[in-house]
Amino acid sequence: MCGIVGYIGDKDAYPILIKGLKRLEYRGYDSAGVALLSNNRINVYKKQGKVANLEDHATDKDTSGNVGIGHTRWATHGAPNDVNAHPHYSESENIALIHNGIIENYDSIKQELINKGYSFKSDTDTEVLCFLIDDIQKNTGVNIGESVRLALHHVVGAYALVVMSKDDPGTLIAARKSSPLVVGLGKDGDYYLASDATPIVEYTKKVVYLDDEEIAVVRPGEELKIYGIDDIEKTPYIQELELHLEELEKGGYDHFMLKEIHEQPRSIRDCFRGRLNTDSGWVSLGGIKEYENKIANADRIIMVACGTSWHAALVGEYLFEDLARINVEVEYASEFRYRNPIITENDVVIAISQSGETADTLAALELAKSKGATILGICNVVGSSISRVTDAGSYTHAGPEIGVASTKAFTAQVTVLTLMALALAHKKGTLSETKFRTLLSELEAIPEKVQKVLDENDKIEFISGQYKDATNALYLGRGNSFPVALEGALKLKEISYIHAEGYPAAEMKHGPIALIDEEMPVFVIATKGTSYEKVVSNIQEVKARKGKIIAIVTEGDTQVAELADHVIEIPETDEHLVPLLATIPLQLLSYHIAVMRGCNVDQPRNLAKSVTVE
Ligand code: G6P
Repeated sequence: MCGIVGYIGDKDAYPILIKGLKRLEYRGYDSAGVALLSNNRINVYKKQGKVANLEDHATDKDTSGNVGIGHTRWATHGAPNDVNAHPHYSESENIALIHNGIIENYDSIKQELINKGYSFKSDTDTEVLCFLIDDIQKNTGVNIGESVRLALHHVVGAYALVVMSKDDPGTLIAARKSSPLVVGLGKDGDYYLASDATPIVEYTKKVVYLDDEEIAVVRPGEELKIYGIDDIEKTPYIQELELHLEELEKGGYDHFMLKEIHEQPRSIRDCFRGRLNTDSGWVSLGGIKEYENKIANADRIIMVACGTSWHAALVGEYLFEDLARINVEVEYASEFRYRNPIITENDVVIAISQSGETADTLAALELAKSKGATILGICNVVGSSISRVTDAGSYTHAGPEIGVASTKAFTAQVTVLTLMALALAHKKGTLSETKFRTLLSELEAIPEKVQKVLDENDKIEFISGQYKDATNALYLGRGNSFPVALEGALKLKEISYIHAEGYPAAEMKHGPIALIDEEMPVFVIATKGTSYEKVVSNIQEVKARKGKIIAIVTEGDTQVAELADHVIEIPETDEHLVPLLATIPLQLLSYHIAVMRGCNVDQPRNLAKSVTVE
């Protein structure tokens, strides 16, 4: 994780860096720092904690300079304190560097440098890289760009980095491997560098996404130069950003998470807009159209993902298998990549990732590709690494998700998976035309129904108040509501720090039932459908142990209402689409409970939104 930002041009760098770091804070908030080049000096200011701490620290300092780099950290090597904060600078104080990623062989490089007489201040891998670049420059006399290039030949690991040098104040050097880096081409010949486009969008829409093992040399007023780590010059591919500034602001909500929960009617609609037509009975995902035959005829589909995206994949498994009768396996990317999995050319591997940058998911895809599988992506962030390495894919079009706990990205992923399953089912003829058309119109009606659930916010807030002091919680669901239970539990633990577990309702009696007492809230998805009666029996079992039942039910349900302590109704829909509605009250419950407990909803402790380390 970590967020990096850089500026070089004729503007004051400091405010640009601070604003950029705030936009990137979702990537980590253990510490923040900046380095500014001014009057032949590099001033470095860094502080443990959030960007706001850094701002306080720097108020009475010299923050002048038209060249600067900044960093917001999610700690990997070394405790989250001031010393380990980035930027790091060389012993000579000639070079300052910011880095997102991990230098895996930092220890051996560090030993070599210690043997040469260097002494380190921090415990980080990044400081080692900084010293290495400085050492190469001192010993070879080459310029800063070449020193970075030579240093990177010694590095095993992942990096997105930006380097500034006192000896070459008119240049910033940036490089990437496995961690993202975007170069913004300013209107006045100035340059912006960042982990994603959010710090750049208000200054320019022209960007270049660096590829792996590419180095960018930026000099104000001059053309952007890009070289491979092998020193071969490349032609920059300039793209136009589609991001809008308003999407990065809270728009009157107290938290990004709440805004994003409320955006779901729109984000789901944006996701299927232009991809389905109920009147003519048609569904199509342009991005994967030419791979439809391949997917329909694949031996199996493997979905790889992490966190919330993994839960979306589980919903996808139900949809693909039930609607299109295609064999699906869902894998944690981190497990899949190290398990020596059996993959053939007839497999299709679909990565699901909001950020498109998750290191494990990316590595799992690369492994599958190396074995000849077709690799596809479902990503939210346009231009992200996963979207660029895959053979094809579909964007979720949910818009920027800033809250660390994922909400609208999840429902958008489930929407894309539903569209895919429907397209494949239609192609394979596994659904009757009537059922196919019913599902299309039910899907089209989902945004309105999501809005109806959101309108229950006050009631949900009241229920949240009853359980805000719980220490444990259980979430139960069956069929495609089991992943919803997992997602509900994940949301609660992520942002309120209450221990929560999601379980298939019938599995409760194989363990978790032992935990149930009168203090234990049990959230149950008990909507009408195949397993309804079975779930009612599970509710009885909880009731018999005096557990508190909060049930998500279909509008008009009376049976569960008699048993449960609280019910939250969701509008009736086809059983296949229940996850899109049942998730919403669970998001709101977690949100309100976290707010009532005084937790930092948008930036929960120890988490980061984009996990670019394994
Ligand atoms: C982190 C985030 C989660 C996210 C997971 C996978 O853990 O905090 O919200 O679900 O990464 O991220 P991705 O971007 O691949 O969906």
